[in-house]
Amino acid sequence: MKTCNALMAGAAMIVSGLSASGVVAEEFRLGLITPPPHVWTLAAEEFGAALNEASGGEHSVTVFPARQLGNEAEMLQQLQTGALDMSFMTIAEVSNRAPEFGAFYAPYMANDIEHAAAILRSDAARELLEQLPGTVGVVGVGYGSAGMRQILTNGGADSAADLTGQKIRITPFEPILDFYNAFGVAPTPMPLPSVFDALANGQVDGIDMDAELILGLSYYEHADTMIQTNHMMFPMVGLVSARVWAGLSEEDRAMIGELMAAAVDSTLDTYVAREQEWLDGIRATGISYQEAGPEFFGDAIDTWEAIWTERAGDALSSLRAAAAELE
Ligand code: BEZ
Repeated sequence: MKTCNALMAGAAMIVSGLSASGVVAEEFRLGLITPPPHVWTLAAEEFGAALNEASGGEHSVTVFPARQLGNEAEMLQQLQTGALDMSFMTIAEVSNRAPEFGAFYAPYMANDIEHAAAILRSDAARELLEQLPGTVGVVGVGYGSAGMRQILTNGGADSAADLTGQKIRITPFEPILDFYNAFGVAPTPMPLPSVFDALANGQVDGIDMDAELILGLSYYEHADTMIQTNHMMFPMVGLVSARVWAGLSEEDRAMIGELMAAAVDSTLDTYVAREQEWLDGIRATGISYQEAGPEFFGDAIDTWEAIWTERAGDALSSLRAAAAELE
């Protein structure tokens, strides 16, 4: 009888998906646009393993890298409807729907990769996440990042004015479009997976990119000059569908929120630790290598500031205040 009761209880649990520990077993799907060996994809895999362990094997996360589930705009839509559970995504896509997030792209707000990490860990940055369930239909658990943005091009430049008329690939989002428009290049918005071919076949003259990918995806093979500008940080955010979140127990929310936040935060440490190694690697390829600072961009920075002071509202001033404190 005892055995029979235990079996019946087990069967009932299987039907309802409830484990002996009281956790409802879930198979989550997490999408990203980055390729399998990328820092973000590895962090997503680590999050899945940590969640599986913390839930006693009840929860699993299947990671879909390299845009298998669509581009970021498509994945954000899927998160909104609950068709996708989770994503590690550029703030770029979020900023297309919640303009306050454009404040993160203020040129030279961060002095370097360490400063960028500190800004992304600030209360001002965290507070911005609070609006996401209401404005975008997603829960933001925390920030990660890729490295600082650089320009890889052909022909070199003494100042941004020398790039006038060149087609430079940018990530498709408004803050960076406004920046490149401000110094007269022809910005060419293009998602990450299309960049290699576009550079290789001459569809663009150069790209806005980070050091990890310039080196790791061999973009340097199709351009002769690296301009290390460090002109912007490039934040990432760990997202859970607000619909999926609403269906989770308090216990699962706490577990997922904590583990996902730790996973995205770990990318900040990775870029701080490895940015210089990747920059050195690019230098070692033998392509021409220049270093430039804010002066390279002339008054483009002020032009950007004028546009985004209005669009990003208080977010720009609060992030700037945090950046100043953290210097
Ligand atoms: C990009 O669009 O340049 C990009 C996207 C995700 C990670 C790194 C770079």
